[in-house]
Amino acid sequence: MIWARAQGSRVWDADGREYIDLSAGFGVAALGHRDRRVAAAIAAQPVAHALGDLAEAEIAVGLRRRLPWPAKFGVTGEDAVEIALRTALLATGRPGIVAFGGAYHGTGLLALAATGFERFREPFAPWLPGPVHRRPYGEDPGPLPADAGCVIAEPVQGRAGARVPPEGWLEALRARCDEAGALLVVDAIYAGLGRVGELWPGEPVADVLTVGKALGHGLPISAALFLRPELEDAWRLGPEDVLTHTHVLNPLACAAAHVVLEEVPALLGRVVEAGGRFARAGFDGRGLLRSRPGDWEEAWRRGVLVVPAGEDGSLISATPPLTISDADVDEALARIEGV
Ligand SMILES: Cc1ncc(COP(=O)(O)O)c(C=O)c1O
Repeated sequence: MIWARAQGSRVWDADGREYIDLSAGFGVAALGHRDRRVAAAIAAQPVAHALGDLAEAEIAVGLRRRLPWPAKFGVTGEDAVEIALRTALLATGRPGIVAFGGAYHGTGLLALAATGFERFREPFAPWLPGPVHRRPYGEDPGPLPADAGCVIAEPVQGRAGARVPPEGWLEALRARCDEAGALLVVDAIYAGLGRVGELWPGEPVADVLTVGKALGHGLPISAALFLRPELEDAWRLGPEDVLTHTHVLNPLACAAAHVVLEEVPALLGRVVEAGGRFARAGFDGRGLLRSRPGDWEEAWRRGVLVVPAGEDGSLISATPPLTISDADVDEALARIEGV
């Protein structure tokens, strides 16, 4: 299938066939495809590309001010995870990472090492950094290994199939980190920015919180947010930024991020309501990060875009735009059921 046009919660393919989009493009188009406020903010930018970490565009400086915590920015979600994990090494001097089964943190080597999907890791196993101590998702990991500099956890697992941990689990991780002097990294790249009904899930417990996906609403930008602001100092390593990218803090992506941060808070109640409609149709998860058993190719044939999920790919996930209407949810669910 080739996407020819996308608008709101609908996508049209190159043959003119229309689909209801329950993917939001892997959770990116939180305000719906081609949101006009995002488009206008991008079009209004007087600078399309600046000098990244050396000389930021004004809009990037504004984005730093708008975020509630100091941040170090990346381009992809995986960059933000890499920044968070490296922050733990810099701050603690300890290389160990405690990560969880079913976790998905990205495909660069460091994020991949923390990722739980064996089939992604296996071809690159000889190169993967570590040590990584893997524990079952949702269980108390026990006292942390002596070399652990951090624990990294998704507040709700995305790619593994909208897995919600038991109540109090993140708090238990916080306590384990406190005992060991390790950092708690909450990877909210999928779950954050409204998708599970909160702007910053994990905020009460995290030392570093990562966001990406919806932040740039289709333009690549991600951030590791230092909820303990002094952690930013760990990066004062000399005259140059030693972890940077040509396209970091792209002004067009920053302009989109301003709109997302302005508009998403008003949608949080709506996310919970729309999530309830999916729950009643057998989709597990939280807010609009949902999944249930199903065949994604069959759903596509029936005119609904869903993404395969679960460690064995047997689930379909629903991560629609946060703006999806009740009518579109109901129609998508009816199409999936073949009604
Ligand atoms: C929780 C989580 N972390 C990190 C990533 C990696 O983000 P990206 O694909 O933008 O590198 C993803 C992508 O799905 C994700 O769901």
